[in-house]
Amino acid sequence: MAAWEIIACVEDIPPGEYKTIDLNDVLIAVFNIGGSFYAIEDVCTHDGGILTGGPLNGCVITCPRHGAQFDVRTGEVLAEPAYEPVATFPVRIVDGMLQVRDDRKA
Ligand code: FES
Repeated sequence: MAAWEIIACVEDIPPGEYKTIDLNDVLIAVFNIGGSFYAIEDVCTHDGGILTGGPLNGCVITCPRHGAQFDVRTGEVLAEPAYEPVATFPVRIVDGMLQVRDDRKA
């Protein structure tokens, strides 16, 4: 199983905001949605563009390139032109620090 990796302090990401991290060459965006934290791969499944940079409305992020929308809590596609969900990562808080784990890695 992959190791948990520290990515930020909880205080670094207020509700309604997010932070992006390059974690071992994987681009990750961590969102604070109403006090709960969610992490997705910061790569749009439509055409491989960076997903963040577009508007975040509640739990829905809109890709700045062609407008695909995803639920950052689940990675689910909510609007075309993307059809595949974005990868999600488990998030936990230990001693005030946010940690994520990429379970795609052995
Ligand atoms: S790259 Fe995101 S909608 Fe096209």
